[in-house]
Amino acid sequence: MSGATQNNLNKENIKILIAFGTRPEAIKMCPLVRELRSRGVGVKVCVTGQHKEILYSAMKAFGVSADYDFGIMSEGQTLFDLTERILAKMKSLLAVYTPDAILVHGDTTTAFAVALAGFYSKIPVAHVEAGLRSYDLSSPYPEELNRRAITLMSRAHFAPTNDAACNLLGEGVPSSQVFVTGNTVVDALGYTLRKGFKSKLLKEMAGKRIIFLTAHRRESHGKTLENMLLAVRRISESFEDVGVIYPVHPNPNVKNTAEKILGGRERIILCPPLDVVECHNVMAKSYMLLTDSGGIQEEAAALRRPALVMRNVTERPEGIKVGISALAGTDGEQIFVTVKRLLEDKKLYEKMRRADNPYGSGNACGKIADILLSSNFGNK
Ligand code: UD1
Ligand code: UDP
Repeated sequence: MSGATQNNLNKENIKILIAFGTRPEAIKMCPLVRELRSRGVGVKVCVTGQHKEILYSAMKAFGVSADYDFGIMSEGQTLFDLTERILAKMKSLLAVYTPDAILVHGDTTTAFAVALAGFYSKIPVAHVEAGLRSYDLSSPYPEELNRRAITLMSRAHFAPTNDAACNLLGEGVPSSQVFVTGNTVVDALGYTLRKGFKSKLLKEMAGKRIIFLTAHRRESHGKTLENMLLAVRRISESFEDVGVIYPVHPNPNVKNTAEKILGGRERIILCPPLDVVECHNVMAKSYMLLTDSGGIQEEAAALRRPALVMRNVTERPEGIKVGISALAGTDGEQIFVTVKRLLEDKKLYEKMRRADNPYGSGNACGKIADILLSSNFGNK
């Protein structure tokens, strides 16, 4: 391990690089940046710029800015583009700046390529939100591969739940490297939720039961996404007291389909991505969430909003086990029937809302900071 310490990481001298590149990583890592800095730890923030406007908007909400910004995003970027650009930029950065540890988050291509750069440079990598598994490499794609590969390259694994920790232990990760911390997204909600929050969107939907909709996954692009959105259209045609708010992901593969199927429809608002403060507060006021997102499944549990997940498998089974979320699949008819049932069955709805939040109580960043500052994971 490079730097001043051989045993415990010394907060006075330690150099930590926190790297992320997409909106969800920013939302879940900015609270950790703030926590570590509040303890006097030397943290540099590197953003790959896998995302652009939605990334900067999320960082701004937490008052975090980049020390290094690779600015790599291009329209319609492929996984090859992302991986090769991030690796090349990381190689240059690590040639002039050598942190004691690199922290990555979750399962994006940014996290994968940054961890690979750390591994090649023999710099210890710590993985936040470690151990999530669908055990299906095709869904979520390519995230399931990314997170498994990051596990192999990491020396500290911050698992959000016991289930995630068990996955890691079952794969042979030494228990001395696995820590259950809760999910930092619950900490993020501590920054973003506002009492009495008002917004134009909520005003437009006054008196309606809001379905908060997001859909963007790579494996759904094309026909699957079309069928999902057609099911939403049928729902809004069938329930006059329901309004849909859909902040559309800027990916052209999503934007064009959303506009084609849901554009100009009554009681459906298609809007640009919401800043995270508005997003979390609108979700908190929604009747239910309908999503293929990962992070929104966790937020649903923290906000106690029932979530129907438009996927066939999820790497977040905890929400399903406690009952706050349920799989609606990716087939249009199945999605329609599942949403209709939740809108009509008040008992089911109330039962889902009573579920406990399995993703922690909002002190994950504190726990991660404690562990980082008292560990010698960098020494192998
Ligand atoms: C990526 C992550 C996925 C995460 C999602 C969050 C990988 C492999 N996937 O999705 O896990 O759920 O981000 O949103 O890392 N775009 C913009 N402006 C932005 C952001 C994106 O215009 O601020 C457009 C660009 O045309 C870009 C496209 O969206 O090429 C896709 O972005 P990308 O990060 O490649 O999306 P995914 O890989 O689908
Ligand atoms: N989000 C946001 N604005 C939006 C839509 C989502 O701030 O318009 C937030 C959401 O609350 C969650 C995160 O973005 O914290 C989820 O990101 P996304 O669905 O893009 O990625 P995933 O979690 O599926 O990787």
